[in-house]
Amino acid sequence: MKVAVVGTGYVGLVVGACLAETGNDVVCADLDAAKIDALKKSRLPIYEPGLEPLVVRNQREGRLQFTTEVGAAIERSDVVCIAVGTPPDEDGSADVQYVLDVARTIGRHMNRPKLVVTKSTVPVGTAERVRAEIARQTKTPFHVCSNPEFLKEGAAIEDFMKPDRVIVGVDSEEAAKTLEELYAPFVRTGNPLIFMDIPSAEMTKYAANAMLATRISFMNQIARLCEVVGADISLVRNHRIGPAFLFPGPGYGGSCFPKDVKALIRTGEDQGVPLDILKAVEEANARQKRVLFEKLARHFEGKLAGVTVAVWGLAFKAETDDVRESPALVVVDELLAAGAAVRVHDPAALPTARRHLGDRVCYAAHAYEALEGAAALAIVTEWLEYRNPDFERIKRLLTRPLIVDGRNLYDPERLARLGFTYDSIGRRLTCASS
Ligand SMILES: NC(=O)c1ccc[n+]([C@@H]2O[C@H](COP(=O)([O-])OP(=O)(O)OC[C@H]3O[C@@H](n4cnc5c(N)ncnc54)[C@H](O)[C@@H]3O)[C@@H](O)[C@H]2O)c1
Repeated sequence: MKVAVVGTGYVGLVVGACLAETGNDVVCADLDAAKIDALKKSRLPIYEPGLEPLVVRNQREGRLQFTTEVGAAIERSDVVCIAVGTPPDEDGSADVQYVLDVARTIGRHMNRPKLVVTKSTVPVGTAERVRAEIARQTKTPFHVCSNPEFLKEGAAIEDFMKPDRVIVGVDSEEAAKTLEELYAPFVRTGNPLIFMDIPSAEMTKYAANAMLATRISFMNQIARLCEVVGADISLVRNHRIGPAFLFPGPGYGGSCFPKDVKALIRTGEDQGVPLDILKAVEEANARQKRVLFEKLARHFEGKLAGVTVAVWGLAFKAETDDVRESPALVVVDELLAAGAAVRVHDPAALPTARRHLGDRVCYAAHAYEALEGAAALAIVTEWLEYRNPDFERIKRLLTRPLIVDGRNLYDPERLARLGFTYDSIGRRLTCASS
């Protein structure tokens, strides 16, 4: 199939590469000339495990091309995927202006019938607006469908290649058939392609992300209570309620949960349906993002001025270089505001973090380098390389053996035996003497 993917960000690039990998003839188009130039030279704008070999191979074999000529990409294609960003507007609603821009471009380049697929996360009714924008420009027949993307950064290729489920909102047999063909290679092991009406598909994406954000915030609050009453969250979380998305942590971040929860709250308000639960989820998350800082402040009795703190992990989660809405940025900002000096390490996200933090912190190329002269280590992202570190070396480098762990990577008793004060989420604080 000839496919154009408009918007070559996380979603567009992964979708384009995976569709090319299954034999389609794909052009990824983006207005960002620097990004497209780099991609033509197989330099990826993001860190995503497994993505680079797919891009290199499919580009070399001619199934994957990159262009800034959005119109030309549309004209040569039968299927056009819209994968541009939908950032939050000032009032929290999803800003769909980029999606509608693409719709107008599609309208102007409708040289033959096409299927237009919205992959961006968009509020209910957006597919209809896309349809109207295209129809304003052309008499050529076309179909619109909603196919929200559920990939997770850090596991995006795996998620796209072997999806739990693919949601497709359609209102024509023809559109359904084309999507079925496009997705056939990815659902061979029986995971379902679920067809529904277009508004339900648009809503499903928001409901799914809002549910996951709710589970995380719920667990984070239970974890805080566990700390106070002397229970252990790692035991509590495994009982009956199921483990997925129930790891306590430093609060959720990333490009999706925060903005999608906000947008859904806004949709509810616009429709006169208050979503109180989600408002509470947002508040709980904002509070949770301060927890690591508050723990550090307690250990230093509020006197963080002049103290050096090492931070391991800046990405909002492991296996990505994405720092959008990352809890680590909150921890770092709070520490700096309290007068502390901060030394940071992340295996992938130092360049992206630098855009936010500038020269206000010291960047360490290696994890242990961040610890030099620091009085405490705060762990914010659950990178594999932090899971089994050399604790003796950590102790030698820190001026005070204090680890505040937002990801519960270590066993509290073991850390106490090794001579650390170890403060994690929802578990008993352990000290060298305990
Ligand atoms: N990042 C994720 O994990 C994820 C997962 C599922 C769904 N989504 C959704 O997918 C959408 C895209 O997210 P993303 O993270 O890939 O965004 P992104 O910001 O990484 O990429 C968007 C790209 O679109 C390009 N663009 C903007 N306007 C354009 C136009 N008119 N023509 C061509 N290109 C244009 C930008 O230059 C940018 O490269 C959003 O709606 C998001 O909510 C994201």
